[in-house]
Amino acid sequence: MQSASPYYTKTAQWLHWIMAIIFISAWLIGFYSGNFLSYDVDGSFKGSVITLHKNIATVIIFLVIIRIFWRYTHPVPKLPDAMSPTMKTMAHLGHLVLYLLLLALPITGCLFSWSAGHPAPVLYLFEIPRLVQDNPELLAIVKPIHIYLSWFAGFVVLGHLLMALKHHFIDKDNVLRSMIGRKNKR
Ligand code: HEM
Repeated sequence: MQSASPYYTKTAQWLHWIMAIIFISAWLIGFYSGNFLSYDVDGSFKGSVITLHKNIATVIIFLVIIRIFWRYTHPVPKLPDAMSPTMKTMAHLGHLVLYLLLLALPITGCLFSWSAGHPAPVLYLFEIPRLVQDNPELLAIVKPIHIYLSWFAGFVVLGHLLMALKHHFIDKDNVLRSMIGRKNKR
C-alpha cells in the first residue's frame, strides 16, 4: 500500500529509530563479548555483558512483530521516480531481508541461550518462557547460526545505512527525510 504522503507514519518512524538504537547497541555489546571477553580471563564481567546483551536484544522480538503488523496495515511513501525498477526491487528485497533478520536474530539468540541452560530475559523485568531445555545438540547448531547471522546482519545494516546516506547526500531525494519528517500525525 503506497501513501500519498512523502513521510512514513509517526509510529513507523518511532519504531524504526528505536529498533535501530536497540539493534546497534545489542550488536556492539554481543560482538564485544563474543570477540574480546573470555570466561577464563573476564569471568563474571563477561556474564554481566552477555546478560545485558540479552536483556536489550529480546525487546526486538516484540517490536518487530508490532512493526510488521504496522507495515502491512499502513501506507508507506513511494520510492523516488528517479530510481530504476531494478533498484526499487533491490530496495524492497533489502527491506524484506532486514525484517527476516530482525526475527531470526532474537529467535536464534533465545534458542542459543535456552539450549545452553540459560534464560532469555527482557529488560531485566521478566523472562521469555522457555521453549527448549538444556540441549547440547541444539546448542551446537544454533550457536554458529546466531553468530554468522549477526555478522551478516551487521553488513546488511551497514549497507542500509550507506544507501540511506547516498539517497540523502548524492541523489538528494526524500528517502531519508521520509523516515524523519514531521508533517504527519499517526
Ligand atoms: C537483534 C538481536 C540480536 C543481535 C543484533 C545480536 C548480535 C550478536 C552478536 C554480534 C554477537 C557476537 C557474535 C560473535 O561472537 O562474533 C552475539 C552473541 C551472542 N548473542 Fe546475540 N544478538 C541478538 C539477540 C540475542 C538474543 C535475544 C539472545 C538471547 C536471549 C542472544 C544471545 C547471545 C549470546 C549468548 C551470544 C554469545 C556471546 C558470547 O559468546 O560472549 N542474542 N549476538
